[in-house]
Amino acid sequence: MITVDGLTKRYGQLTAVDEVSFTAEPGRVMGFLGPNGAGKSTSMRMMVGLSEPTSGTAHILGRRFGELPNPGREVGVLLDASAQHGGRTGREILSLAAGTMGLPKAWGDAALERVSLTPEEARRRVGNYSLGMRQRLGIAVALIGDPDVLILDEPANGLDPAGIRWMRDLLRGFANDGGTVLLSSHLLHEIEVIADDILVIGNGRIVARGTKEQLLTEGGTLARSADPAALAAALRAAGHASKQASSGALHTEADAGTVGQVALATGVALTELRAADSTGLEEMFLALTDDSQRDGLRDETDTKTEGTAA
Ligand SMILES: Nc1ncnc2c1ncn2[C@@H]1O[C@H](COP(=O)(O)OP(=O)(O)O)[C@@H](O)[C@H]1O
Ligand SMILES: [Mg+2]
Repeated sequence: MITVDGLTKRYGQLTAVDEVSFTAEPGRVMGFLGPNGAGKSTSMRMMVGLSEPTSGTAHILGRRFGELPNPGREVGVLLDASAQHGGRTGREILSLAAGTMGLPKAWGDAALERVSLTPEEARRRVGNYSLGMRQRLGIAVALIGDPDVLILDEPANGLDPAGIRWMRDLLRGFANDGGTVLLSSHLLHEIEVIADDILVIGNGRIVARGTKEQLLTEGGTLARSADPAALAAALRAAGHASKQASSGALHTEADAGTVGQVALATGVALTELRAADSTGLEEMFLALTDDSQRDGLRDETDTKTEGTAA
């Protein structure tokens, strides 16, 4: 269990993390999704005691990180997989981690096995690892102390689609055994594949939250037609707002049956009609990404994203 309450970090004028609150429950994988610069790493660094919050608190298993008797046995952390010492071999890094936590060296081998790094790979220097191999090794280090909680910053970075599915299965198994997982990503697709619950952060603030199903089914309907303007007008007349999605299709909260009826009554032929699924989340996420790329517009974008607050 991770409990975060009003967590805030200011760097001078910049509020990198702004009143972030959430609970990550045992048995679930929570995805922390936000564009680059949104405040994911800063939040996670505060959770694991590497950065002092300006205000607010983070508790892991009911205690602040610094109060955990043997943190590595309770929470596994992967912050920056590229930060590992390139001159050491994978096996050496795991032995060192085992030593620091007072664990038998054999636990290092067990961790290697859990992340599917072969003994031959473990004998290579990390400097020669691909990013994906570094991520696996980083996860092995996080798992070595058999913790109850995992906090992983962008662990799927550099993994191919098969690697992302592998990580989903690994984290699913960890959660099924009663563990709590918080992982961040700047890619919606990764979070969609891996997470049960989603927390969306933009400009330091939580802008949406819910189970994956909730966030994906709130997506409404997508309708493509030869005459989107006429369809939009007919939907409006029937009391349903719509907007043109970036793909050119109309996106509306009305269900597919309603859109079909309206199109029939108006004589507009539909060329595609389907549940928008993740499109709603994707559009919101794209808007956040746009916003965070425009420096200096922070105040305006903050009020803009508030409209979607969960
Ligand atoms: N040590 C620091 N000093 C000043 N600004 C920082 C520092 N660390 C992060 N920031 C800023 O805080 C914001 C959030 O960064 P970060 O938490 O790394 O975002 P994310 O991990 O979501 O990409 C960014 O604008 C970043 O430039
Ligand atoms: Mg980051």
